[in-house]
Amino acid sequence: MSVEIRKAKSAGFCFGVKKAMDAVYEQIRTGGGKPIYTYGPLIHNDEVVRELKEKGVEVIHSQEELRQLKEGIVIIRSHGVSREIYDILTKNGITCVDATCPFVKRIHKIAEKESLAGRRVIIIGNEGHPEVEGIKGWCGTPAAVIENEAQAREFTCKTGEKLCIVSQTTFNYNKFKDLVEIFQKKGYDTVVVNTICSATEERQTEAREIAADVDVMIVIGGTHSSNTRKLYEICRSECENTHFIQTLDNLHLELPESVRRVGITAGASTPNNIIEEVQNYVRINF
Ligand code: F3S
Repeated sequence: MSVEIRKAKSAGFCFGVKKAMDAVYEQIRTGGGKPIYTYGPLIHNDEVVRELKEKGVEVIHSQEELRQLKEGIVIIRSHGVSREIYDILTKNGITCVDATCPFVKRIHKIAEKESLAGRRVIIIGNEGHPEVEGIKGWCGTPAAVIENEAQAREFTCKTGEKLCIVSQTTFNYNKFKDLVEIFQKKGYDTVVVNTICSATEERQTEAREIAADVDVMIVIGGTHSSNTRKLYEICRSECENTHFIQTLDNLHLELPESVRRVGITAGASTPNNIIEEVQNYVRINF
């Protein structure tokens, strides 16, 4: 008897990533031969980045590298960047194509407005993640990044200091709620804005629901992709037999006879063809 496959409808490219991909392809078509760059790899997927390189799209890895650039088109990826990056582009006369996801743009606006109004911005997210670094760069006052309960408990601020809590768009919603609760118990004057994007919430909810219902769960996405890692955590807590793979090549699946249902989900930067390959592999082999 073959296994039943449950593939998440929300698996794969989200709307923000699709938008960024479209922006790059449009520049390849209409850029008129100008050099095209993305500030950081466009998405956390090595194959896609390689494919773009073949089409002449180079990756800029650092602010220093960006400062050296004197011509061309720079595409800002969906993660967004700090205000300083826009300033460098303007100063050097570089064409900027801004593919920042609107959900991230919204956080930049909140961070700017609330910090100007005197609130210290607390970002619930992962220190060092490009999206978090970008958000920090819109805060008029130094922001704090909190990613776990220990950090939330240890956090203290000056008497009378006001706070504004936002979240990295791909943060785990339940963890966000728990961390916010710790802050609220401290009794500070705090504004909380849940800025987890709906695509992430849907993807996580669906992944949790499927993982709880299957015998084996497969999560596909880049090892550097934070949203995929979070999906893995969620699925692993519901289904012990959860596999995290980047492409079909990493899947070394041996299914015992007792396995009836296999679930599949994928992070926001996983192209559809990879998801389909994995799905077909499971369908044909088990
Ligand atoms: Fe945007 Fe959400 Fe995707 S913030 S880039 S739609 S995961």
